[in-house]
Amino acid sequence: MLHGKKILLIISGGIAAYKALELIRLFKKSGATVRCVLTNGGAQFVTPMSVAALSEEQVFTDLFSLKDESEMGHIRLSREADLVLVAPASANILAQMAHGLAEDLASTTLLATNSPVMVCPAMNPMMWNHAATQDNLKILEKRGIHIIAPDVGEMACGETGQGRLPEPENILMAITNFIQKDKPLSGYRALVTSGPTHEPIDPVRFIGNRSSGKQGHAIASALAAKGAAVTLISGPVNIPPPKGVETISVQTAQEMLAACENNLPADITVCAAAVSDWRVDGCAGQKIKKSANKTPPTFQLTENPDILKTISNHKNRPALVVGFAAETENLIDNAKSKLIKKSCDWIIANNVGDNEIFGADNNLVTLVTAHETTEWPQASKETIARDITDKIVKYMIHIKSQKKAA
Ligand code: C5P
Repeated sequence: MLHGKKILLIISGGIAAYKALELIRLFKKSGATVRCVLTNGGAQFVTPMSVAALSEEQVFTDLFSLKDESEMGHIRLSREADLVLVAPASANILAQMAHGLAEDLASTTLLATNSPVMVCPAMNPMMWNHAATQDNLKILEKRGIHIIAPDVGEMACGETGQGRLPEPENILMAITNFIQKDKPLSGYRALVTSGPTHEPIDPVRFIGNRSSGKQGHAIASALAAKGAAVTLISGPVNIPPPKGVETISVQTAQEMLAACENNLPADITVCAAAVSDWRVDGCAGQKIKKSANKTPPTFQLTENPDILKTISNHKNRPALVVGFAAETENLIDNAKSKLIKKSCDWIIANNVGDNEIFGADNNLVTLVTAHETTEWPQASKETIARDITDKIVKYMIHIKSQKKAA
């Protein structure tokens, strides 16, 4: 259910902290990785040892100094998480969050994260109903923090009212629904190629190109955001691997093809890599030196395998194969002939003649299929990746309904 998902669980103070232990067990059972931050208050109710034993991960506590360089990695932790969950969330931590306080590791992590955040408040009913707490919750809700309201019942303190932490099974269900919401591609496998390839001439030189990998990486990321299990095969790039995507780094076209074939079958393939058409026949074992008579070396080139064409004609052909065509002239004609020559379903054509596309943040593309040729408005590579993904979602839903009808 939560297979492969990374949850950062912040356990703040309150008697309900004991339920966090059961929650960790349930998360693990459903396939998630759980890392925990224990506040000083939380550590009064559960021990770092029991949290570490159940999560099978190092526990981060406020006992560490935030000034310590090595501890900054824990802030990074919050960025790696698919979800940051505060359970139980005390009135104090809600107030810290609402007012942007960064007083300890937990509150600093919450201020530093760019992942979705969910809170499960648990406290005395008077504290829950207090105007200060309710105002803080309104602020958090407005900022997009997801709130799982506490249950009504008898409290540990003997009072009755709203404030009980919901049962761990119910929290798990709410989180599973949240993570699976708007995931129309969940259950689909996607393979994306990105970046350039480097074809060695000798141990220090290569044939490469100016692809940055930005468009391919953005597509991998957008497909993952819609729930697909994405494998990204990337040539050498200077951008970080996208979140929630399995990234395999390669250098050459031959390595890229091997990695692609190793990762078939897939349902969707997008070949966004700028694969070198040729490689040097017989890469030199040592650095080629300038010769005494200054005659420049000559190289015999051999054609590289066409990955897109190979995948399109593979016995495990994905249901949808998308290629790119980066052209400097005759964009649409070239894209149309590539669609046929490479037996793929769609070609995303972009004009790279003005040198403004490679490495840039924006792109201007035309979608070419057997049925349509549509120029899309110029947009950021992320927006284009989302538009391509939306089109892929519609196509996959269409195929599924056709299969059902057959
Ligand atoms: O023929 P051209 O390189 O213009 O084709 C571009 C499309 O083909 C892109 O989708 C690119 O990723 C793919 N391609 C490939 N393997 C090659 C050459 C191109 O997958 N050797």
